[in-house]
Amino acid sequence: MTPSAEALVKQGLLFRPIEGINIERLVLIGFRGAGKSRMARQLESRIGWRAISTDAEIENRLRMTIREFVKDHGWPAFRELESRVIQEVCERQQVIIDTGGGVVEREENMALLTQNAVVIWVDAPEAVLVERLREGNDRPLLTAQNWEADVRENYQRRLPLYRRYAHLYVNTSRPETKELILNYVSMLGV
Ligand code: S3P
Repeated sequence: MTPSAEALVKQGLLFRPIEGINIERLVLIGFRGAGKSRMARQLESRIGWRAISTDAEIENRLRMTIREFVKDHGWPAFRELESRVIQEVCERQQVIIDTGGGVVEREENMALLTQNAVVIWVDAPEAVLVERLREGNDRPLLTAQNWEADVRENYQRRLPLYRRYAHLYVNTSRPETKELILNYVSMLGV
């Protein structure tokens, strides 16, 4: 392990070794409001790979918002579409794939996304997510009847999934962790 990788392990920011992976893409996973899209843009300007948002891709194709689509067709139909988009974007190389918070719900998505990829879990503490999502939250509810219970319930349920697939961890409520990860990823030579 390189000294910089060791430093990340000590800080709890590197869960699994990356060295040896033939890196063809970066994948950002994490809950709604964690800051994946912002991180994707920062990575894009740092390393020059193109950032692709699967949510934006889905909305472009549907010509409607995810909220509208889910209202009429339900979550299972959305998950089908999401998996199709994942299959397509996984054929591309030198890209940063900014996924929706629920991508980890399907193992088949993650089996594809984790091939020749470094997976970065973009996270923030539950209380911070609740605060961020309190205002201007136009995301459709997932499983609960009110938005706060929805955030808490689904965040807790998904935590082990995000943890399972991630190589690297960023806590966006601690900007210094983000800087460390941005530097590390640039150094990987991607
Ligand atoms: C979802 C998160 C959303 C979007 C859809 C489902 C989820 O993406 O894909 O509303 O299941 O948590 P963001 O994480 O970008 O908000």
